[in-house]
Amino acid sequence: ERLLAASGPLKGRHVLVTSGPTHEPIDPVRYIANRSSGKQGHAIAAAAARAGAQVTLVSGPVNLPDPAGVDVRHVESARDMLAAVEAALPADAAIFAAAVADWRAASEAGEKLKKDGNAIPPLMLTENPDILATVAHLSNRRPRLVVGFAAETQNVVAYAQAKRARKGCDWIVANDVSQHSGIAGGVMGGDSNAVHLITAEGVEHWPEASKAAVAEKLIARVAASLGPLGA
Ligand code: CTP
Ligand code: CA
Repeated sequence: ERLLAASGPLKGRHVLVTSGPTHEPIDPVRYIANRSSGKQGHAIAAAAARAGAQVTLVSGPVNLPDPAGVDVRHVESARDMLAAVEAALPADAAIFAAAVADWRAASEAGEKLKKDGNAIPPLMLTENPDILATVAHLSNRRPRLVVGFAAETQNVVAYAQAKRARKGCDWIVANDVSQHSGIAGGVMGGDSNAVHLITAEGVEHWPEASKAAVAEKLIARVAASLGPLGA
């Protein structure tokens, strides 16, 4: 693992990545989740490690192996993910690829909910913390480069530009997760992705490529943006 980090354009840098869905408990046997395979986030963490960075990957529940040379913190809920992210700071760059559940159950039942009779239990929701916005607005320990993702099913670029402003991040990687995205089999769970990189300078449309190739390209851009160590 040390050998992996011995050289490369991100040598000496700490890169923090979130990946996967979060699971929000309803009771001991049930949860609310998002559709996310974790493939894109894990590929980014792996690419950062290959580029020589020290990498912390905070991952929700996924069916993927831990990437080589990466320090992986496994979490379940959005609140756990926020705590693990805060504990991993400081970082030079943070990339938030996780599909965080926007809402969780307002209260978690201590025992399994039973069908008992015919009353259907109401599911009251409350909002989860926004991990990306929290980190992007830190006054002390804000990473120099904060990158969010935006999964949209319509008005992809316009929604993502608004999201970039609202979240206070530097870049947004936007993708179309609709069934009509043009990507065979869809982006979610699939192996390829077509993204738009939204920065202060404008929008770049990246052609469809494997999630591994998108990760490599993004990490090359991160390295270029951070510049040489000590500069
Ligand atoms: N994100 C986060 N914490 C949350 C929700 C989202 O860190 N509680 C991050 C995601 O990891 C992603 C970015 O914010 O990098 C955008 O997520 P997205 O779900 O597209 O945006 P939302 O602000 O939740 O807006 P909406 O789902 O309503 O489109
Ligand atoms: Ca959301």
